[in-house]
Amino acid sequence: MMKSCRTDDNCFLRIVLFCRHSILRRMKWIVIGANGMLGRDLVEEMKASHYEVVPLDLPEIDITQPPEELEQHLPEADGLVNCAAYTKVDDAETERNAAFAVNAEGVYHLALVALNREIPMVHVSTDYVFDGHGRRPYGEQDPVNPLNVYGASKLAGEKALRSTGCPYLIVRTQSLFGKHGPNFVKAIARKARESERPLKVVNDQFSAPTYTRHLANGIVRLMQAKAEGIVHVAAADSCSWFEFARQIVAEIQPGHVVIPIASEDMKRPAARPKNSLLNMERYQRLTGHMMPSWRSGLEAYFHEEDYFT
Ligand SMILES: NC(=O)c1ccc[n+]([C@@H]2O[C@H](COP(=O)([O-])OP(=O)(O)OC[C@H]3O[C@@H](n4cnc5c(N)ncnc54)[C@H](OP(=O)(O)O)[C@@H]3O)[C@@H](O)[C@H]2O)c1
Repeated sequence: MMKSCRTDDNCFLRIVLFCRHSILRRMKWIVIGANGMLGRDLVEEMKASHYEVVPLDLPEIDITQPPEELEQHLPEADGLVNCAAYTKVDDAETERNAAFAVNAEGVYHLALVALNREIPMVHVSTDYVFDGHGRRPYGEQDPVNPLNVYGASKLAGEKALRSTGCPYLIVRTQSLFGKHGPNFVKAIARKARESERPLKVVNDQFSAPTYTRHLANGIVRLMQAKAEGIVHVAAADSCSWFEFARQIVAEIQPGHVVIPIASEDMKRPAARPKNSLLNMERYQRLTGHMMPSWRSGLEAYFHEEDYFT
């Protein structure tokens, strides 16, 4: 009688320990592109949310390597996030192969690893998959039609990822600014500080400039909600680039003149969508959260230490 009771006790103890271990075991995720502007903030946000994170980037991992080689370099994990990308929008017009190698083939390679390991892959994409001719914010299922090579390469990456059949979450976002990379806020602030010449900024392209720390928080919320498929995540509210520049200058160099111009007056190698705002109803339904506005993103950014480094 005593013996079986002790056996039951041991069994119960083992179950308790197993449950405790399962509950306490932190999820281990690989983040690729971890040294980039978004990647750095996402790693921090995931750690703060009690994920164990393996941050990887060039040169230690190159997603253009064949999947068999990636398999050898990637540690065991519960999932992987891809923030790695070829992001030079204008250069992509003349470096098509380089853009597609990273943004399409590289994504496909990672997805094959995720499929083989039966782990989910979170991937970051862009509003540039749309042409921006629409009058209302784009939903996840709206027709795509990229205007430039970068957008086409990112769209090819989305398609390649989905074609593998691995469990995936594609987060489409737009107009990122953050401490850890070159961005519009730094460029405008630098110009306003270095010269007294008025700044000319386009007033007929609309976006929702998104602070990378806010986006990182949104991505983690989606991961916690085990969201799948495509989800649009960007700052709430929108503005023209001119309006955004005026707000930056008001903070950094009040009084500096900013002049609105038309896109036609500022020729750039890659065409940009004029109105590629993203509809975020799906994000709000999945997370119960509203993304902060671009104004609060900018305010939070200016409160970061050494935000120009
Ligand atoms: N920035 C935006 O406004 C914006 C808007 C919408 C969507 N997105 C998307 O958001 C994601 C993050 O963008 P971001 O601005 O944070 O990009 P980023 O700062 O350029 O970071 C990308 C990172 O990927 C790395 N990388 C490039 N090629 C690689 C390869 N073959 N293998 C492994 N790593 C590689 C880069 O390393 P190197 O620096 O050494 O090349 C860099 O550390 C990207 O998917 C981008 O397409 C960005």
